[in-house]
Amino acid sequence: MDILDIIENKKKAKELSKEEIEYFIKKYTSGEITDYQAAALIMAICINGMTQSEILNLTISMAHSGDILDLSDISNNIVDKHSTGGVGDKVTLILMPIIASLGIPVAKMSGRGLGITGGTADKLESIPGYNTNLSIEEFKNNVKEIGISLMTQTLNLAPADKKIYALRDCIACTNSIPLIASSIMSKKIASGANSIVLDVTCGKGSFMRNKQDARRLAKMMNLIGKWAKIKTSCVLTNMDEPLGYSVGNNLEVIEAIDALKGNMAKDVKEVVMNLAIQIMNLANFQSNTFECKKRILEVIESGKALEKFKELVKKQGGDVSYIENPEKFEKAPIITPVISEESGYVEKLDAYKVGKAGLELGIGRKEKEDSIDSRVGIIFNKKIGDKVKKDEVLAYVHANSAEKSIECVDAIKEAYKLGNKKIAKKNIIEIIN
Ligand code: URA
Repeated sequence: MDILDIIENKKKAKELSKEEIEYFIKKYTSGEITDYQAAALIMAICINGMTQSEILNLTISMAHSGDILDLSDISNNIVDKHSTGGVGDKVTLILMPIIASLGIPVAKMSGRGLGITGGTADKLESIPGYNTNLSIEEFKNNVKEIGISLMTQTLNLAPADKKIYALRDCIACTNSIPLIASSIMSKKIASGANSIVLDVTCGKGSFMRNKQDARRLAKMMNLIGKWAKIKTSCVLTNMDEPLGYSVGNNLEVIEAIDALKGNMAKDVKEVVMNLAIQIMNLANFQSNTFECKKRILEVIESGKALEKFKELVKKQGGDVSYIENPEKFEKAPIITPVISEESGYVEKLDAYKVGKAGLELGIGRKEKEDSIDSRVGIIFNKKIGDKVKKDEVLAYVHANSAEKSIECVDAIKEAYKLGNKKIAKKNIIEIIN
């Protein structure tokens, strides 16, 4: 078999065989296929798509490119959560400690930023000392001992996805349904979860720009889940504007801490509650929605969820004093307000434009080797539906240079659109089981 033939076949939109897909995944993981050859194939997949059986074969090959984790010694009821990515998406940092504090075991592997979307692993690493690179033994021990572990993908779990994910980010191949579905589900199969709740984001700041595509992605992931005998539920959520009040690694961790204290932005709360309810259902913990909500609010109000987050940070080597005193997080040197030039109601806060502006600030990586600056980001003072007076502050830009600050302020002004009427928002679009 030859990689050039495989690229040629996909270039001509032919269906790849199971053997061709397995060959590509095996040889790319081992380094025998180069990044530029893989990039050509990924681009051809992105343009020409894949059939259902190609997607299943790709998912299985990627899942088996490394170890398959067996968590059955911890529980047969491990529920995982994954998001298809968004701007300002700090949901995992809030949701998973809530779930663990309810007594449902959480063993979760998170990704890094991809394109304009942020990554939970990058956010966790902004907590000084927090180690996202655990061995499988450490990961399992943490779940056994404190009921939760949040780490990044290790070299041994779905390493093919790790390589392809980083590559896609640098060649404008992030928004492809076959690649997203296989990327997410291969990791979930490899990480040993019994059930998965997927946050399928939809809108300007996500890979799926419209409901039709988001539904197609959700249905494809449900199908893969069914095939892999993993209970799967998808929650379609709105990502037209950034989620919550902050975008940026340190800033989002600070917002998550505040949320665990009960001060949750309305849109964040709606997403967290809906995902938590799905997780509680799949884990056979509670099926009554009213009871679920009650239990979630109890662990937040009693401080149990925040305590669980602190326990997690401590267990993974992080400095808990930052969680206790979030003002300890280092601030960016230049903080500039974005002032409104008119009065009205916020009609749009374009998550794509915000994500792009954030990438320029240094929140994410443009190249796979780029380093990120966890201090930089944007805090929003006004979101869709809010009333704004001329000269009021729309947002604050946290930058590491005057030049980047000026550029970002202009970009954020561009991201806002004011109108005469108050717009009603809907954050949960639908649930697809
Ligand atoms: N999250 C993933 O894990 N993979 C993708 O391709 C997109 C979001």
